Amino acid sequence: MPAVLRDDGLAKRVNSMRIDVLTIFPDLFTGFLATSIPANAIESGALSCHVHDIRAHSASRHRKTDDRPFGGGPGMVMMCQPIFDAVKAAESQDPATAVRVLLSPQGERLAQPRVEWLAQQPRLLLLCGHYEGIDERVVEELKPLELSLGDYVLSGGELGAMVLIDAVARLQSGVLGHEDSAAEDSFSVRSADGAHPLLDCPHYTRPREWNGREVPDILLSGDHQAVARWRDAQRIERTRERRPDLLQNTPFAQPQPLPVANKHNAAEQVAQSKRTPASPNRDADLHGQAAPESA
Ligand SMILES: C[S@@+](CC[C@H](N)C(=O)[O-])C[C@H]1O[C@@H](n2cnc3c(N)ncnc32)[C@H](O)[C@@H]1O
Repeated sequence: MPAVLRDDGLAKRVNSMRIDVLTIFPDLFTGFLATSIPANAIESGALSCHVHDIRAHSASRHRKTDDRPFGGGPGMVMMCQPIFDAVKAAESQDPATAVRVLLSPQGERLAQPRVEWLAQQPRLLLLCGHYEGIDERVVEELKPLELSLGDYVLSGGELGAMVLIDAVARLQSGVLGHEDSAAEDSFSVRSADGAHPLLDCPHYTRPREWNGREVPDILLSGDHQAVARWRDAQRIERTRERRPDLLQNTPFAQPQPLPVANKHNAAEQVAQSKRTPASPNRDADLHGQAAPESA
């Protein structure tokens, strides 16, 4: 696996992932790769991203990459030769073997376990289709892993490639500000038996009352264990309500009593806050960290 050694006093090994994107619209990636988490990942050296224009590999004088479909019918089909040559050229730039991915509505539906697996690979090559799709023969030749964003059709694979880049970038070591935040996200956080992904709990920040809605008292209590228990209960409850399919064959699929503060009923919260004096920790931070300045 390619590695970057950074001498920051303590020699630290940082695994670097390489992603190659093959597209006929490379400009689409310019703003995306310069912004937010993907940009942080690239800046930190955790990720390098190389966008290749398939048109540059066209053998035709007019940089043609598509043609009419054999058998007739609407639309155009991306030709084998420019894609194959673009893949070979990109792959020759680095000795690491790339996992080839074709974005396709006919592929495996993308989910977090696959994202986690992809995030551990040293190198990905993302192939973006357009028009009616890609000549089947080059797909057979390249044998990519076909991944779908969902059961709907996009105009091209670029948005899918961006989704994948973002999802794997945030799992690279040191990319997120808080190391634990990815582990506590939906689908990464798991049931106690480790077998079932859960949805994340609800989150709140200042002000503690907004539009007549109060933050659940327990989050202001300063009792970290109670907060952790409440959040776990929320994760289970939310998953049971919104995605019961994730909990099938677990005890959590059955209704369970939950801590009193689990359900945020605005009216009840307002009434309760008027009955009870403000907790001394109300203005304290969440999880012992500095909360953002009030909005
Ligand atoms: C208009 S689509 C082609 C759809 C194809 N004719 C079909 O019905 O299966 C053009 C390209 O967009 C991308 N694409 C479209 N929908 C997608 C999805 N749900 N997930 C991932 N990529 C998708 C693929 O790269 C595809 O080759």
